[in-house]
Amino acid sequence: RPASIIGQRPFPPEQVERRPGCPFDPPAARERLREDGPVSKIRLRNGADLWVISGYDEARAVLSDVRFSSDVIRRTSSFNLTPEQVAEGPSGCPVQEGERGDGMFIFMDPPEHTRLRRLLISQFTVRRMKALETRVQEIAVELIEAMRAAGTRADLVADFALPLPSLVICELLGVAYGDRAEFQERSAITLNTGNTAEEQARAGAGLLEFMRTLVAAKRENPGDDLLSGLIRGDLAADPPLSDAELVDIGLTLLGAGHETTANMLALSTFALLEHPDQLAALRADPALIDNAVEELMRYLSIVHTGPRRIATEDLTVAGVTIPAGATVLVSVPTANRDAARWSAPERLDLTRPRSPHLGFGHGVHQCLGQQLARVELRIGLAELFTRLPSLRLAVPATEIPLRTDMVIFGVHSLPVVWD
Ligand code: HEM
Repeated sequence: RPASIIGQRPFPPEQVERRPGCPFDPPAARERLREDGPVSKIRLRNGADLWVISGYDEARAVLSDVRFSSDVIRRTSSFNLTPEQVAEGPSGCPVQEGERGDGMFIFMDPPEHTRLRRLLISQFTVRRMKALETRVQEIAVELIEAMRAAGTRADLVADFALPLPSLVICELLGVAYGDRAEFQERSAITLNTGNTAEEQARAGAGLLEFMRTLVAAKRENPGDDLLSGLIRGDLAADPPLSDAELVDIGLTLLGAGHETTANMLALSTFALLEHPDQLAALRADPALIDNAVEELMRYLSIVHTGPRRIATEDLTVAGVTIPAGATVLVSVPTANRDAARWSAPERLDLTRPRSPHLGFGHGVHQCLGQQLARVELRIGLAELFTRLPSLRLAVPATEIPLRTDMVIFGVHSLPVVWD
């Protein structure tokens, strides 16, 4: 597998690789950090220090304190890192110093962040989400029926998990039907480690161009999609949104909503197939699906190398002082298995009473698309297991390639068969 920019993380392998036969459990080294205490310091491969927050209460405290900055890109310059370290990013982001786009609000702090977040929230309306739900259902059914029509074998990642959220983002942004194949192809290439760095860079540049054309088209001819809504609502915005901001907002929604949802869909399917008792419980009581989605979010915690923050001053968490300028990793996989919070946290239990997890983050940056993600997971998983009742892995579980080297954990492919 050729190395990709996205794949080159400075994380020590033991902090991301899974134990043989335990694809869903946090890495053993991460578990050990948690046993040492809720806050610890490790050395990255690029020589920088990383402060790891392993406990649930401490993770929430960090995520709700904006003195832990999200501006990880621009603050790189305050680190005294070597040029190579800057190129790799203090926290593993393959970005150059100062490269943050005008509208990338996921990397902004209040009040800059507040202005864009507020505009975005006004577009995630109940009416739009309801309309999207109908389309999610149609898209999921179309994809599954296409798999069935093609035979009794598929790669669930390429044929279902990647295209579903990509098409949903097309709906959200108002991408014309004729342009969707191009959009999907390019966004899939940017995520896939099987492609070279050049291929990914070319696809990324293509997506940027695509988004610029889309924004220009929406300015010219608005529809009832989110980008048009932002442009219309823009009249009230102060200052009004620029084209560059709109382009970055589109790319941020794609960046935050595609890879995450795709990996949750595929990894959840893998986890349910590997826990037949839980799958049987879900089949016996389809009303369990909402609970199942929350428990899978907790249990799988796919955002395994983030969220990341930078301490803007000396800050104390659980009695430990984190120095100004330090990079902090909120370790969602261990925080979501904190035994002080959940009983038998290492067990996947779809009937577990619901309790807030950190799978969608917490605080001012808490996932903006979480309702949409829940709809995609609920409908995607329910349709899959209903329409393909004999669904099973086509290869032994140990042969499923895991995305341990990526920002978002999951599987590179999931070969499945059915009768
Ligand atoms: C933020 C997880 C789906 C849009 C976040 C954060 C997490 C997360 C952990 C917080 C990041 C931080 O604190 O730095 C997930 C997971 C998803 C998912 C696990 C799928 C299962 C989506 C979808 C969309 C979306 C479908 C939109 C289409 C966003 C945006 C932010 C965000 C825009 C940034 C919010 C802000 O900075 O104010 N997501 N997400 N996400 N997510 Fe999601």
